[in-house]
Amino acid sequence: MSKKIFEQAKTWVLEAGELIRQKMDDPLVIDTKANANDLVTTIDRDTEAFLATNIKHTFPDHFILSEEGFGDNLSTLDGVVWIIDPIDGTINFVNQKRNFAISVDIFVDGVGEMGIVYDVMAGNLYTAKRGEGAFKNDQKLSPLKEELNLGESILGLNHNWLCENPVVDEIEIQQLVKRVRGTRAYGSAALKLAFLAEGIIDSYITMNLAPWDIAGGMVLVSEVGAVTTNIDGNTVNMLGTDSTISCHPAILEDLLEVMKKGRK
Ligand code: IPD
Ligand code: CA
Ligand code: CA
Repeated sequence: MSKKIFEQAKTWVLEAGELIRQKMDDPLVIDTKANANDLVTTIDRDTEAFLATNIKHTFPDHFILSEEGFGDNLSTLDGVVWIIDPIDGTINFVNQKRNFAISVDIFVDGVGEMGIVYDVMAGNLYTAKRGEGAFKNDQKLSPLKEELNLGESILGLNHNWLCENPVVDEIEIQQLVKRVRGTRAYGSAALKLAFLAEGIIDSYITMNLAPWDIAGGMVLVSEVGAVTTNIDGNTVNMLGTDSTISCHPAILEDLLEVMKKGRK
């Protein structure tokens, strides 16, 4: 992955964040997608269109996998693929006007080479290039501490998984919550992964995410030594929806064991 593409990606993400902040207080047009809480706004669409137009104009041979319809219809990750979530945490964007992120990843032949998560209202830009470490606003993030046990860890978890759901037995998840030091739900998968990279939470578990929710964050966490699998311990499917465990490697086995017991 060339430095030029990485720098260009960061510039466009910062510009997209600025456009969002400028339009923040305009009247919002909000639509729903799969269900009443699956929101999309004109700003989600405008942000994705801004990024996609720039990418296609500058790098016509690159592909785009993205949430709001400005990308390509891909069946493989061959070549250079930008994976984009223009606003991750749209409910937060609509209801709180903060705690949402732009997430961008560049995959090359199926390998995540670069990840960016921009916490737009906090002004924090998390970036990573594979093999070169992860950064928060140009400050290098430390590798994860060497040792950790489940009992001292903070689990990132959407509270829906504590309720009856089709994927995992909620009783097992409730037991897990009792075993950890604390849980946090931020309403944005991309931010949870950025916080894992920063070392302020130790794991993130979710049963049902799209590639654009996690792609940018996956590169960040891997650069500080965290691991990411699906709840069966396999590689996460980046061409469809899948479950995800991303965590400090010392607690992966414990988390996979819980999932194995609870898997429906
Ligand atoms: C959502 C957020 C949320 C997660 C949902 C995602 P969106 O993305 O990442 O934290 O729990 O599953 O769909 O719709 O705000 O881009
Ligand atoms: Ca998302
Ligand atoms: Ca989104």
